Amino acid sequence: MEKPIRCAVLGLGRLGYWHAENVASKVKGAKLVCVADPQTAHAAKVAGELGVDRYTGNLNEVFEDDSIDAVVIASPTSTHADMISQAARNGKHIFVEKPLTVDLQEASDVLRVLEETKVVCQVGFMRRFDPAYAEAKKRIARGDIGKPIYYKGVSRDPGSPPAEFIKNSGGIFLDLGIHDYDLARFLLEAEVTSVAAHGSVLVHRFMEEFGDVDQGIAYATFDSGAAADIECSRNAYYGYDIRGEVIGTEGTLLIGSLRHRDISVLTFKGSSQDIVPDFPTRFESAYVLEMQHFVDCLLNGQQPSVTAEDGKKALEIAVAAKKAFETGSRVQL
Ligand SMILES: NC(=O)c1ccc[n+]([C@@H]2O[C@H](COP(=O)([O-])OP(=O)(O)OC[C@H]3O[C@@H](n4cnc5c(N)ncnc54)[C@H](O)[C@@H]3O)[C@@H](O)[C@H]2O)c1
Repeated sequence: MEKPIRCAVLGLGRLGYWHAENVASKVKGAKLVCVADPQTAHAAKVAGELGVDRYTGNLNEVFEDDSIDAVVIASPTSTHADMISQAARNGKHIFVEKPLTVDLQEASDVLRVLEETKVVCQVGFMRRFDPAYAEAKKRIARGDIGKPIYYKGVSRDPGSPPAEFIKNSGGIFLDLGIHDYDLARFLLEAEVTSVAAHGSVLVHRFMEEFGDVDQGIAYATFDSGAAADIECSRNAYYGYDIRGEVIGTEGTLLIGSLRHRDISVLTFKGSSQDIVPDFPTRFESAYVLEMQHFVDCLLNGQQPSVTAEDGKKALEIAVAAKKAFETGSRVQL
């Protein structure tokens, strides 16, 4: 049997924990050898829960350990650029959560380091691996809806993350919108040429302090002549509402639904169904599939289908959307 890819997960918060669990028990060809988080006690707890031999609060220990082949970076976005550079310079392959970095200068710097060091880097745009979005991609490639001319993305969170997260998130157009900006490029197979954006604080007044909004919409045009609108919200109190639509010249694809378990409850009051509650539930399989793709690429010496270049392109759109919202003017890319 081939030697497994020896992985470490850096940052063990909401998402890092899921990645660690997946690498430890669901991804074939990978071995989770270390978990790291500046909160050492938390790292120790996660290591105990997942049966991992090593944990550390000192991330340098991971970068300097030659026996570690790859790192999964799931620390706050503001740390990504530094972590990617350190990992790459120490010859470690990288899976990094979205967004690639907080700004475009950092993204360019990171791309340069990746080019110099030749390590593999995959960005965590897991929606591309979700079976529904992946099937949409196949159908478009097969010509089932003719030429794709419009993408509609809906990304609604059940509520707001805490103020501390919002403060460092880069705002709704970056933190939440970036998944759909990536999907729009992926499904329309085109690049954005301009973005307009609007938004409001409808519920979470504390966001005003950070210049953020809880409801936003971006309208983008593409070099193929296509267009897209992408709605982001922190106000979906009914559940986690992620859907997409691709209009083509010969048909339309509706992607995703609110349905959680496949059951309808019928009573004298009417009918009801379970709604998807949160992102770990909605994208459970996508998180495993994206990590399996990363590990398979390392085992087979291939480049991932979602690269740091894709991370930068989506970031460019997000930065343009934020600027368009702040200035009230359409931004050309
Ligand atoms: N793909 C997705 O669907 C998705 C969903 C949520 C978050 N994310 C991304 O994942 C990343 C982490 O988000 P989260 O919600 O898990 O955050 P979180 O705040 O829940 O967790 C962050 C963790 O990183 C640790 N940390 C802090 N500084 C660190 C450092 N310098 N080095 C290593 N670890 C450090 C913290 O102690 C904490 O345990 C962000 O980039 C975010 O955008 C992606």
